Amino acid sequence: LCVAVLSGGLSHERDVSLRSGRRLSSALRSAGIGVEEWDADSSLLSRLREHRPDAVVVALHGGEGEGGSIQTVLEMLDVPFVGSDSHACRRAWDKPTAKTELAAAGLTTPDWVVLPHSTFRELGAQPVLDAMVARLGLPMMLKPDQGGSALGAQVVRDAADLPAAMVGCLAYGETVLAERFVEGVEVAVTVLDGPDGPIALPAVEIDPETGVYDYTARYTAGLTRFHTPARLDERAAAAVADLAVAAHRLLGLRDVSRTDAIVDADGTVHFLEVNLSPGLTETSLLPMAAEAGGLSLADIYAGLIDRAMS
Ligand code: DAL
Ligand code: MG
Repeated sequence: LCVAVLSGGLSHERDVSLRSGRRLSSALRSAGIGVEEWDADSSLLSRLREHRPDAVVVALHGGEGEGGSIQTVLEMLDVPFVGSDSHACRRAWDKPTAKTELAAAGLTTPDWVVLPHSTFRELGAQPVLDAMVARLGLPMMLKPDQGGSALGAQVVRDAADLPAAMVGCLAYGETVLAERFVEGVEVAVTVLDGPDGPIALPAVEIDPETGVYDYTARYTAGLTRFHTPARLDERAAAAVADLAVAAHRLLGLRDVSRTDAIVDADGTVHFLEVNLSPGLTETSLLPMAAEAGGLSLADIYAGLIDRAMS
């Protein structure tokens, strides 16, 4: 059996992906599974053709591995892979598309507007910024419409900070997703496909020291406290699990996903986004959820590799 773990790539999350790939590969090797670590560079297609792995695990983060293009290549070459198919990746990776579909299905998600860079050029920056504040209030969240690891994401508390935050966000993409800020407990819920359908692992509660779960708080050990399972009452714990399973199903996801959400003071759960290739680094959330659920990374991914090949 030869499994290729794809990591690296050229997205902004390259370093995170290399860490995810290394951790997953060593877990699979310890479980006796033959693994090759492949950097997803321009030789990927010829390598896939020449070496034809029995299965591929996409441990890429960012558009390359979550936006559907790598999945399309694997589908064209008929190489089995772990994770969602190209179509589901395209829908779920685009945050406004995922929010629109899930809101239409009745899930709660913070009110939002989508602003391509050109809007500011065409209509003048200040009137657009004023309209954003009028619609969403302050604080508000800015995020690139597609992206991960909080790169380019900003919490804006004061209207005077909005222009600079916009520039920071647009550095990571052409289009900004601006959302109403929801105060509450931030949680991440991993969902795994099982024989009886998708199940949620225990929610991980995120409690960053600075109050903001940015790139540094994500990948520097000790800067964020995690509580697994999340400190939620029974009703809220069930609601976050239901939300994550519903997002997985409604977006047509396969194998594994991680939904990030906020539980407000009333216990309402607000969908933020879903991750198609959840981080597997030492400070990432899926491995913590797995451990709390009594599973190891190797258990989970060996099962998913079997599924992919069957
Ligand atoms: N985008 C990062 C890898 C995550 O969601 O874990
Ligand atoms: Mg994400």
